[in-house]
This record gives sequence, C-alpha cells and structure tokens, in this order.
Amino acid sequence: MAKKVAIQNSCIHGKGIFAQEDIKSEEEILVMDDSHVVINLGILSQHQLDYECDFLAEGRVVLMQEPEVFINHSCDPNAYVKTVDGVRRTFAMRDIKTGEELTFDYAVNGENEGTFKCHCGNANCRKNYIGNFFSLPLEAQKKYLPYLDSWFVEKHRARILVLNHSH
Ligand SMILES: C[S@@+](CC[C@H](N)C(=O)[O-])C[C@H]1O[C@@H](n2cnc3c(N)ncnc32)[C@H](O)[C@@H]1O
Ligand SMILES: [Zn+2]
Repeated sequence: MAKKVAIQNSCIHGKGIFAQEDIKSEEEILVMDDSHVVINLGILSQHQLDYECDFLAEGRVVLMQEPEVFINHSCDPNAYVKTVDGVRRTFAMRDIKTGEELTFDYAVNGENEGTFKCHCGNANCRKNYIGNFFSLPLEAQKKYLPYLDSWFVEKHRARILVLNHSH
C-alpha cells in the first residue's frame, strides 16, 4: 500500500483513507491500480457494483483496489485524479494535514446517474449526490474545470468549451 495514506474508519461512510503525513497541494498521493478490468458486469456481486466499480474512459469498468477503493466522496474534496503517462494518479487539490481524510468529488469525470444521500458534512454539501458532472451546480462545474481528466475533456470538448467561456 502507498505509504502516504492508511485505511481507517471514516465519519463520512464506512472506511476511508487518511493522510499519514502532511501532503502539499498538487503533490502526487498514489497511483491507481486499474488492472482489474471487468468484462461482464453481470457476474459481480451487488457489493462490488455499489462499492468497487469505477467507470472510466470508453466504457471501461475496473474493480478498484486498496487503498483507493476506500476513497469517500466529499462535496468539498481535497484530491482529484489525472491520467499521466497512461496511468491514473491521485493528486492533492490543496495542502492536506496528517490525519485528514482524503476525498474526491465523485462527480468529477462522472457520466452516470448513480446517487446516494451524501454524509460529507460540509457546509456546502449537495445532500443528494448525483454521479454526473453536468448535473453539478454551474459554480461547481467551473471550479472543477482544472481537475477534469483529459479523456473527459476530450469526450465533452464542446460542452466544456462553453463552460470555459461562461461567466
Ligand atoms: C468506493 S466506496 C467508498 C468506500 C466506502 N466508505 C467503504 O467503506 O467501502 C463508494 C461508496 O461509499 C459510499 N459513500 C462514499 N462517500 C459517501 C458520502 N459522502 N456519503 C454517503 N455515502 C458515501 C457510497 O455508498 C458509495 O457508493
Ligand atoms: Zn456532500
């Protein structure tokens, strides 16, 4: 397991991953293991479908591995994913202190309508999580523009151009 994080119980949901050292903004935190590609969703358990699947570019689905499988969602996240040299990596969106839980906004690069009642506890929590980037409030879409992965920008180029130029 990557040394910068450890799996611990989370106040947000079940288990989460927590910084084991201070992490600087834009620092790489971990490399995602996307090697467990799912060919047939039909053979997965409900738990795997609900908790372990990640939906990537070109319809590729992978079963997430530890520790990243335990990254919870937050409506005010401190980490994001970018593909660099063909490998998805997690980076810090801001400085993260030792002991802080690492979170993504799952709707970043999101193209599905998956939903759950959000327990992230932030003042600006959207309460009802929806897994589609373009369903986010406009302000949130604009805030996340620099954090979108290249495949998502490429695929949604026209809509993202409009977003880039909106005030
Ligand atoms: C990849 S798992 C995250 C790890 C999970 N905490 C665990 O212990 O297995 C994703 C699932 O965790 C739950 N989850 C993650 N963030 C959440 C949040 N902010 N509020 C409520 N449930 C959340 C949702 O059920 C979501 O589908
Ligand atoms: Zn929330």
